[in-house]
Amino acid sequence: MSSTTLPKETVQIIDKFDLFQLVHDRIKEIGIDESFFITDVGDVVKKFILWKELFPRIEPDFAIKSNNLPVIASTLAALGAGFDCASHGEITQVLEMGVEPEKIVFAQTVKPIYNIKLAKEKNVFKMTFDNENELYKVKEHFPEAHLLLRLGFSPKSSNKIAFGAKFGCSFETGKDLLKKAKELNLNVKGVAFHIGVGCEEYEIFRKAIEDSSKMFEYGKSLGFNMDVLDIGGGFPGHETKTIREVSKVINESIEQNFPDPSVKIISEPGQFFATHSMTLVVNVHSKAVKLNENGEKIFHYYITDGIYQSFAMKGSGGNNPNPLVVKTLRDTSGDNLKKSVIWGRCCDPNDQVESEILLPELKCGDWLVLEDFGAYRITTSSKFNGFPQHTVFNYIEKEMWDFFMKIKLSNIEVGYHIKK
Ligand SMILES: Cc1ncc(COP(=O)(O)O)c(C=O)c1O
Repeated sequence: MSSTTLPKETVQIIDKFDLFQLVHDRIKEIGIDESFFITDVGDVVKKFILWKELFPRIEPDFAIKSNNLPVIASTLAALGAGFDCASHGEITQVLEMGVEPEKIVFAQTVKPIYNIKLAKEKNVFKMTFDNENELYKVKEHFPEAHLLLRLGFSPKSSNKIAFGAKFGCSFETGKDLLKKAKELNLNVKGVAFHIGVGCEEYEIFRKAIEDSSKMFEYGKSLGFNMDVLDIGGGFPGHETKTIREVSKVINESIEQNFPDPSVKIISEPGQFFATHSMTLVVNVHSKAVKLNENGEKIFHYYITDGIYQSFAMKGSGGNNPNPLVVKTLRDTSGDNLKKSVIWGRCCDPNDQVESEILLPELKCGDWLVLEDFGAYRITTSSKFNGFPQHTVFNYIEKEMWDFFMKIKLSNIEVGYHIKK
């Protein structure tokens, strides 16, 4: 097995994962007012077990775009997860971890030709499409590909990054695309969709699975051997209560619409595995108190992070994929909450993390702990203004490590060092 494209990290085995104790200890150790992450690798293992319990028929293909650190990605690979890749770089990283190409779905409907050529060269057959031009490209560069037609859905709930405007097609367009694929003698194997990141309207899964089943019927009537359904991502990651309800909706709907067990069901969860595994700790390096237009005192805090680092998803026009929960490290139980603004540290005046948040009064040098920061934080962070990438401290409880060692695949090595 070759090494991953990212440098090897270290995971420390500990008796008990006590987040606040670890944060305190690392603040002392790091010695400077700079952000860092804490990872609970055991949480990823727990999530995988939970997935298997809730979705026995659905293969989880981890959306590595949500977190490509070896501590997350190679742990999932070693547990037997498949992968959703969106680019040449992601496919390369996943194959280097030792994952079989059949366990990869190239879930990007619009691909540069060199990406399609890489997929062919590496035998990554499964790929999505949602437009006619993609079919011509695939015809020319990888005509044997196993195509999945991506249908678009536009749920109305807030707090989401909706895909409808950019990815996926309507049912009617989908039918035309299948006809075109038939004309080109391409191999359409199934249907894919993604309800949206952070979408809380889970009932939409019912409609999406139903429409997919109708599209299967249509595809079969054209002579396609449709046997793959890809239900995408969008599963909550910051808590485990909702996922139980979501699983009922999905399993019930699959049972009704895809009773044939020979249809392979795959999915592309990102947040579900990554969100809760990492906590971000940032420093309040500067503070200013200003009056607003009503003469109210507003507390402005400047943190060692921002929209060009761990808050990039928000900065690029989306929402934070999960609610921002800020805890301070001082005992602030008796303090009044004050109207505050949190700014990022770079020179861009748009670098605002929270425009209005209630916080106890902080002082320069205080630390904020942001839980559920494992998805779309590391992978979207840039080096703008020359600020460093955050140090990541990784842990796993001994009991969980021993369990992981028992169930892991023997042909996949984890991409990190272990410290006992
Ligand atoms: C095609 C595709 N699949 C899967 C995902 C993962 O979504 P989530 O993290 O909500 O599970 C994304 C996220 O952007 C995506 O674009």
